[in-house]
Amino acid sequence: MGTQRYLVTAALPYSNGRLHVGHVAGAYLPADTYVRYLRATGADVCFICGSDDNGVAALKTAREQDRTVEELTGHFNASQQADFSGLGIEFDTYGGTHQPGFVDTHEKFSQELFLKIHDKGFFTKRTGKQLYDVKAEQFLPDRFVKGKCPNCGSDKAFGDQCEDCGRAVDQIALIDPVSVLTETTPELRETVHWYLRLDRLQERLSGWLASKKDADAAGALWRPTVLNQSLGRIEAEGLPERAMTRDLTWGVPVPLDDADAEGKSLYVWFDAPIGYVSFTAVHCDRLGEGEQAADRWWKDPDCKIVHFIGEDNIVFHAITWPAMLLASHDSDSVQGEKGEYQLPHNVVSNSFLNIKFPGKEEEKISKSRGTAVWIEEYLERFDPDPLRYYLTAVAPENARTAFDIDEFIARNNGELVNAFGNFFNRTMTFAHKYFDGKVPPAGDRAPEDAEQIKRRGEVLASTAAAFEKCQFKAGLGEVMGLARAGNGYFDVTKPFLSRKTDMAACGWAINVCLQTARTLTTAIAPFLPFTADKCAKMLNLGEDWRSWTSGTDELADGHPLGEPEILVKKLDAKELFDEK
Ligand code: MF3
Ligand code: ZN
Repeated sequence: MGTQRYLVTAALPYSNGRLHVGHVAGAYLPADTYVRYLRATGADVCFICGSDDNGVAALKTAREQDRTVEELTGHFNASQQADFSGLGIEFDTYGGTHQPGFVDTHEKFSQELFLKIHDKGFFTKRTGKQLYDVKAEQFLPDRFVKGKCPNCGSDKAFGDQCEDCGRAVDQIALIDPVSVLTETTPELRETVHWYLRLDRLQERLSGWLASKKDADAAGALWRPTVLNQSLGRIEAEGLPERAMTRDLTWGVPVPLDDADAEGKSLYVWFDAPIGYVSFTAVHCDRLGEGEQAADRWWKDPDCKIVHFIGEDNIVFHAITWPAMLLASHDSDSVQGEKGEYQLPHNVVSNSFLNIKFPGKEEEKISKSRGTAVWIEEYLERFDPDPLRYYLTAVAPENARTAFDIDEFIARNNGELVNAFGNFFNRTMTFAHKYFDGKVPPAGDRAPEDAEQIKRRGEVLASTAAAFEKCQFKAGLGEVMGLARAGNGYFDVTKPFLSRKTDMAACGWAINVCLQTARTLTTAIAPFLPFTADKCAKMLNLGEDWRSWTSGTDELADGHPLGEPEILVKKLDAKELFDEK
């Protein structure tokens, strides 16, 4: 077997707003951390993201802000890219479903998949009733209509989903519907759409999902929320047909030679996930391999496809998207044959992140209520790694958690600075002050030295095991455990005393500390890439230090070290979030 290949995606953010900590914690940070780990193991990884530009969300915001939708989506696509790169979240390609350089390929891939599914007979063309705004002279897809939720009665429901209870809403079921465009009451009119026959795919889908319950057999640990929500939905309600077209001109035109298709676009949840594929194609093309080289990632059973998403995307990634892929297959194999679109190896979903400002109750992140920490603003004042650290440490991997500003500061100062930073600091200080900036000889290792040396390999292995299960919070805990063990070792072996009485013994201890620092550098890199770069510079490591297996390499006696620098800074809550 050659090098393992992975195609990793993070949910395409809507390009109608800025990114906040909730977005980052949900999908992008875990995805980036995972990709960095995979690369450290030598895997060949393609990491794809981009903006979700089509559909009603962008159109509605553009209207509200009185700008063109092209300008709006272009602006936020660029703002997202700046945020991601500031946080060290590095995609191979960041596309956009309606961005120059991507939109043509995206339309082509989306239309091709639509036609393939159409040819396979998995669409029904049907006339149905939909809300129509007489004044604006248009149908009101999705979020263009608001009203009372038929499930919970909240008045924050839209024609696709209720903001309060989070349930999907059929616009026709909305109570007292109002057009967002004109604030008038819409009327029901007939319109034609193409419905994906999810009902005919249901059996294969539920079989495929059920096969993911056994992590060993599936070769991946699927999170319970993903399986519960998707299988639970199928068991409780079955899968009805779903319209995959909309009365809308912003999006990918419906590619049918049919008068009824005029003025219609593909549903945004149909075209958006195809963005993963079309951006891969642009990526391959830019590498000079041609767009068809995307097949190497998407249609080859040897490549593992992993999607990172937030919990509100589960149904789309675990049901609708796999259904689209299945419907395109010629074979009736569950996973797909070579040459057919492969179903995801794993769909990794996080829950939402709440927020807690000092002196206030924990609350939901909300743009309109101003209860968010925006990445752009964060990066103006802070380094990226403290945020990466905290968001992984409190990652909502299995349930909602909160970004608590006080806790963010406390854990930065107490864990990152006091445990991790301090261990490097004291080790480097000793090496420079008493050993001329060189690694002192290892000497004959006593049992506690040997134990600490052995612990390095154990921690690399347990961190790797956590990564294989996509348990990033646990992985970070392992690495921090090694930093703490390093401090414990330092305290027990007391080089600060032996330096006065037994310089050789002092050197043996500092040697073990430096070997521990060497391991920490590799182990922390997927989580805190900027900090790891500094560590590598301080230890004066060669090119290959990110490789996971290099993590247990030992620095040779006499190896010259780099200059010590401050790894992580103490933070003060007041300077940072004062005005909020
Ligand atoms: N834009 C969607 C959201 O933010 C996610 C789209 S993911 C994709 O919820 F797969 F459809 F691209
Ligand atoms: Zn509701």
